Amino acid sequence: MKILVTGGAGYIGSHMTRMLVSRGYDVVVLDTMEFGHKEALPDKATLVVGNVADENVVRKLFSDHTIDGVLHFAGYISVEESVKDPIKYMKNNTIGPVNLLECMRGAGVKYIIFSSTAAVYGNPMTVPIPEDHRKEPISPYGLSKWVFEELLRVYDRSYGLRSIAFRYFNAAGASLDALHGELHRPETHLIPLACAAALGMRDGFSVYGTDYDTPDGSALRDYIHVEDLCAAHILGLEALGNGHETQVYNVGTGVGISVKEVIRAVRKISGRDFSIKESGRRSGDASVLVSDPARIMKEFGWKPKYSDIDAVVKTALAWHTSHPEGYENRH
Ligand SMILES: NC(=O)c1ccc[n+]([C@@H]2O[C@H](COP(=O)([O-])OP(=O)(O)OC[C@H]3O[C@@H](n4cnc5c(N)ncnc54)[C@H](O)[C@@H]3O)[C@@H](O)[C@H]2O)c1
Repeated sequence: MKILVTGGAGYIGSHMTRMLVSRGYDVVVLDTMEFGHKEALPDKATLVVGNVADENVVRKLFSDHTIDGVLHFAGYISVEESVKDPIKYMKNNTIGPVNLLECMRGAGVKYIIFSSTAAVYGNPMTVPIPEDHRKEPISPYGLSKWVFEELLRVYDRSYGLRSIAFRYFNAAGASLDALHGELHRPETHLIPLACAAALGMRDGFSVYGTDYDTPDGSALRDYIHVEDLCAAHILGLEALGNGHETQVYNVGTGVGISVKEVIRAVRKISGRDFSIKESGRRSGDASVLVSDPARIMKEFGWKPKYSDIDAVVKTALAWHTSHPEGYENRH
């Protein structure tokens, strides 16, 4: 089985690539390397540097390799940036990847798994959030993903391209051997920021919004360990290979953890205190995003194994401790 992993040199994509290789899949990674890390890739994966929107590159890739299925992780990921520059997000996350679908169609590739997001829901009316909850994204990032999900339904209806959209809640944590972890530049995600602060690598950070209608006033999120998230993709890939129809699934634990609880967990596990700055709410952020994962659990028998918040923080801290400068100058 040969799988194309777009964005495969990024945080989740590289974890996925290593998991696929360890299970005997052949993997081709397509990544611009704008935010990717070559060092995160296993030697056995083939790296093609290029953009999913580049017709020449993607067409050549499909002619050089007989691809069975695609895992599409490539995309821009910052809610905050998307509010400032919405068109950048529409171009990279929605319009550009249509080229990927067209090239798949041309090459006769039959299925794709898409990295969607809880941000498609906007501010939820019911929590935990089931997949059929109304979709009213409050950020251009969420909208860019929602429109691509809709495009996937069009491609299924009109061209028979089957897909699974996994709506990730908050991906977090590092590989269990601490060799690979979360590294975004700039970093905007809570757990890496808190780990860096605990390790004295930065002077605290801002908590956006402390007056939400939640038990402690900070936003509630659902943290899913990257290992559990990638395990869901393996199940999805096997299902699509066996003819599974187009579907969407939440991938989360169903447990809401507040920003302040995460900070407490990082302080407790690291044994270090650090300062935080309480700032106002950030445009585009929902107050509560907690999944109802019943569908994926029932249909795929998927269950998170490593997503307890203390376990997530432990793996993240181990990675940040051994890689204070990311993949450079490893300790
Ligand atoms: N991290 C999360 O908590 C989270 C939550 C929900 C959804 N997602 C989605 O999961 C996917 C992966 O997220 P991540 O945290 O690993 O991000 P990341 O930035 O670490 O990885 C994305 C990778 O895609 C590459 N890329 C971006 N645009 C590209 C393009 N047009 N063509 C080719 N390569 C391109 C980047 O260079 C990068 O290596 C994204 O689509 C993101 O929206 C992530």
